[in-house]
Amino acid sequence: MRISNTPAEAALLSTFLFPFLSAAVGNIDCNHVRVDKTSFDLSPLGGPRSVLHSVDLGVSLQNTTYTIDICRPLERAADVPKEQQCPGGTRVCGIERVINKQDQKSMLDKVIPIAGELKNQGGGVLDAKWILLSNSGSHADSEKEGLRLEAHGGFFGSGKEKKTQTAIVEFLCDKERTGLENLWNSEDQYTEKRKRADGDDSEPLVDDKDLPSLTFVKYDTSRPSEDILRLEWRTKHACIGAKEEKDAEQGHRWGFFTWFILIAFLSTATYLIFGSWLNYNRYGARGWDLLPHGDTIRDVPYLLKDWIRRVVNTVQGGGSRGGYAAV
Ligand SMILES: *[C@@H]1O[C@H](CO)[C@@H](O)[C@H](O)[C@H]1NC(C)=O
Repeated sequence: MRISNTPAEAALLSTFLFPFLSAAVGNIDCNHVRVDKTSFDLSPLGGPRSVLHSVDLGVSLQNTTYTIDICRPLERAADVPKEQQCPGGTRVCGIERVINKQDQKSMLDKVIPIAGELKNQGGGVLDAKWILLSNSGSHADSEKEGLRLEAHGGFFGSGKEKKTQTAIVEFLCDKERTGLENLWNSEDQYTEKRKRADGDDSEPLVDDKDLPSLTFVKYDTSRPSEDILRLEWRTKHACIGAKEEKDAEQGHRWGFFTWFILIAFLSTATYLIFGSWLNYNRYGARGWDLLPHGDTIRDVPYLLKDWIRRVVNTVQGGGSRGGYAAV
């Protein structure tokens, strides 16, 4: 076997390998979550998604925004000071502000990295675990359709006061929701890596449509050494069989494409054969003259040769000028 030895080949190789590497390092492979032989594609939920939890403190409001990206680490907008954001590698981040009711002045109070790959930042490892709700032990869970994510790695405070953080997110099957309805448009702006092309962002009509799909359940700080954030996410992507349905749909589309090519090919063949037969019988044509549009078809090889020569000239010309190798 030949090992790649040019930079171009190495680059090509790494683009093919990179998705696998990043999936392994990131620990959450959001477009192919596999639990107990059931697969889920949660990639439509990817990107920074926020939920607000507000507590009325009388003269002020304590607003905490929890932001989660199940597909990749969160990345704050570039102009935010370092101490006002969760460290790199964070997947779930809590930012608490106290807002004075009278003058609406808001003060940043706490920044809590709750889950992520945070070993180098003073926390731990993400160690994401997925559980199928119907297979989990409790009676309450066995009624639900969906899956649960448990993610670790977060920390808050330092020294003796340091508490580890855990995020538990229940993804519940709701056929009427994509999972992106009415999400809290946080003032904590994160950069969104990639825009989805598959119109999954369109919001279907829902009965309880004022309710956001991602909701805050609890931030439990009662334990001495660990705080637990619980979120709930209603989405059709947590329904069992949703991924299979989507894959089948894609297979269907591919099937249509194959048929299209086949029919186009057969039509062309029929046209050529029938045309030739017509030319033969009616005009007594022979050789090249048999084919309908024989003149044009005869010219194709020359046209092609000419075109290739022009392309080669352009590429070689560009190569000697710019110094970039042709790919
Ligand atoms: C704080 O929470 C309240 C809901 O209790 C909301 O109306 C308000 O917009 C929030 N303010 C900020 C700055 O997040």
